[in-house]
Amino acid sequence: MLNPAHIRSQFPILSREMNGRPLVYLDHAASAQKPVAVIEAQREYLMHLHANVHRGVHSLSQQATDAFEKARETVRRHLNAAFTEEIIWTAGATDAINLVAQSWGRTHINAGDVIVVTRMEHHANIVPWQMLAEERGARLEVVEIHETGDLIEADFQVKLKMNPKLVALLHVSNTLGTINDVKRWTREAQEVGAKVLVDGCQSVPHMDVDVQAIASDFYVFSGHKTYGPTGIGVLYGKKELLESMPPWRGGGEMIDTVSFEKGTTYAGLPHKFEAGTPHISGAIGLGVALDWMRGVGVKAIGDHENTLGAQARQLLGKVEGLRFIGTSEDKTGVVSFVVDGVHPYDIGTLLDPMGIAVRTGHHCTQPLMDFYDIPGTVRASFGAYNTLQEVDVLAAGVERAVRMLR
Ligand code: ALA
Repeated sequence: MLNPAHIRSQFPILSREMNGRPLVYLDHAASAQKPVAVIEAQREYLMHLHANVHRGVHSLSQQATDAFEKARETVRRHLNAAFTEEIIWTAGATDAINLVAQSWGRTHINAGDVIVVTRMEHHANIVPWQMLAEERGARLEVVEIHETGDLIEADFQVKLKMNPKLVALLHVSNTLGTINDVKRWTREAQEVGAKVLVDGCQSVPHMDVDVQAIASDFYVFSGHKTYGPTGIGVLYGKKELLESMPPWRGGGEMIDTVSFEKGTTYAGLPHKFEAGTPHISGAIGLGVALDWMRGVGVKAIGDHENTLGAQARQLLGKVEGLRFIGTSEDKTGVVSFVVDGVHPYDIGTLLDPMGIAVRTGHHCTQPLMDFYDIPGTVRASFGAYNTLQEVDVLAAGVERAVRMLR
């Protein structure tokens, strides 16, 4: 069991007021707040350690490089990847997916090929595949969902019969909270010869992830949803596969030799995919964020969030006309809902003066909103630092807002 009061004391932003009320931050799924350890690690780097990495024989550059590469090793350990060079720094999960689409996709996807995604993906795991499909003349197939927000197993099997080249699916839905059995789905997709990309944006912040056990070909996540900095993310890929892929972005850092006469040769993994000066302080901060999570206990964090989610569903369930969106038996603590006759934006707007920060709208999952035929939802999403008292404040706030809007 974690101690939320102790945890909260490590998040300076949580002691500020918003609109004259204590801030109740329930928008973790959009971006997590940062513990002092992460803030200090970035500050320390900028104050005492900054130099460009992999570029100098001078001591400062070597120290910066050591810290940067140590963070990569921390990510490897956290995901239980087999090799450190399977961890590629990217600007975020979106960037990581685009890397796969542009590098692997443009060399493997051809006219008539099938790419499978699911109805519940967020735009980052839809649009890069749509762009690729359009360019290559390929086809996107969508696995549909039940009303509960669970994928339709039979539909997945139908899509697998189309012999897709790639299946791209999320581990945990940002809108519904549904946890997909990505290990099984990966195995089944690979059995028909597909490569599998798993989007871990909403899993890595909440649960232990073992990429060797899942065995997907690619796994991506973003730093800022995992208590780390913005502008940094991770692409994990199986070593042999990454080695076989061409670089995507060209520039410094990703080369071996450059010559006008003889052409250019590229660096090996992981640098082949890391053109230009990287987000050094971001990578270091992310490493510290993952260490921070392990220090608290990843399972304890997930359990705590599930308790908050259950309490939120119990209290909000009493609001007349309120309907939960995403009711899978296997879900994280995230709570999405709509209220009959009331627009989600209006609820969010009335919660804001109460100091309550929730996300309202489509949550970058417009196809999912089309399925439920709604303009959006109100979504409360939790992190290690949220408390049961905050859930009470949320429930009372929603009740009040709905009363005012009716
Ligand atoms: N996809 C992010 C969210 O769920 C931004 O809010």
